[in-house]
Amino acid sequence: MPIVGLDLGRHNFRAVELEKEKGKNILLRYGSYENQRLNMESETKEDLMDYSTAIRDFFTETGFRTNNVVVSLPEHQVYMRMIKVPEMSDKELKNSIQYEAEQYIPLPLKEVSLSYQKIDDETVEKGKMNIELVAAKKSILEKYVSILRGAKLIPRGIEPETIALGRVLGDNSEHPSASILVNVGFSETLIIITYRGSVRFTRSVSVGGDVLTRSISQGLSLDYVQAEEYKKVYGLDINQVEGKIYNILKPVFDNIILEVKRSKIFFTTHNPNISINRMILSGGTALMPGLFFYMANNLDFEVELANPWKNIEFSEKVISQKDRLLEQGPIYTTAVGLALKEV
Ligand SMILES: Nc1ncnc2c1ncn2[C@@H]1O[C@H](COP(=O)(O)OP(=O)(O)OP(=O)(O)O)[C@@H](O)[C@H]1O
Ligand SMILES: [Mg+2]
Repeated sequence: MPIVGLDLGRHNFRAVELEKEKGKNILLRYGSYENQRLNMESETKEDLMDYSTAIRDFFTETGFRTNNVVVSLPEHQVYMRMIKVPEMSDKELKNSIQYEAEQYIPLPLKEVSLSYQKIDDETVEKGKMNIELVAAKKSILEKYVSILRGAKLIPRGIEPETIALGRVLGDNSEHPSASILVNVGFSETLIIITYRGSVRFTRSVSVGGDVLTRSISQGLSLDYVQAEEYKKVYGLDINQVEGKIYNILKPVFDNIILEVKRSKIFFTTHNPNISINRMILSGGTALMPGLFFYMANNLDFEVELANPWKNIEFSEKVISQKDRLLEQGPIYTTAVGLALKEV
């Protein structure tokens, strides 16, 4: 059965339709849509209805053949924690998880939907268990479900975006190699550490492509559209426009680099036997000229650009767009991760 991984942004959608055939994941269709007038964060009925209609139109236009979708929740709508509890049976855990969760989740538990998973590996201390807790406000989940219903879609899964990114870019239990994922989007940068196929650490920094464009716009007195163009064409190339754009953008990335280093230190202090050797860059801003080299030169990791298509085959319908798909990989990462959850 095909499934669509649908990445709902504030002003955009990106989606991929995958199907499993003889054990292989096949990309059937994909698409993206952007409209500054859309506003997912709005609370008014009209705005949300417009958003639903836009999704419906996008589905028709792209030609997706299924209404089954998996969507993600943005990091700021989710509470995710790895907690340590005393060793106990599954039944005891089920009974005590609410009590444990209460200590970590800063919301009344009756307002949240809670899920948890036992993580079993060498990081577990003797006599303890590692539990990954995920909680989201019920009202947020209801909002998503109602937007999808409005678009005549059937939600088959809703999960934190960090988990979707971890699934597609992170390591796995067969080839464990702790990885740090850095997704630079429109409004935020997500830093995620995965190990043995599960997300161990997440942090979000509230800078992304929007701040970059605004800074160029202010610094060079350009309007937003022009500034966006400059950003995409010149990026972190010090030889362009007398280094002016480079000088504007550099501090933002130095801040992100600092946060990546802090995240690494935090993780390795708590897990002294695990070393992180690779970093993977994703999100729309990862496509900016010069960024990859800037990150690689300033961090002691092997840096890679996200390729969400690693374990995916292109169907005949999309194979002619292979070069474009490979180039645009970093912006489809979340959508691919979501589809892989249920394919
Ligand atoms: N070639 C490029 N060079 C530089 N920036 C780019 C390029 N292509 C896209 N971007 C930027 O990527 C950003 C959008 O990224 P993405 O699609 O990952 O964000 P989003 O998922 O909508 O937002 P968020 O993850 O913050 O909710 C925009 O700010 C856009 O300007
Ligand atoms: Mg995003």
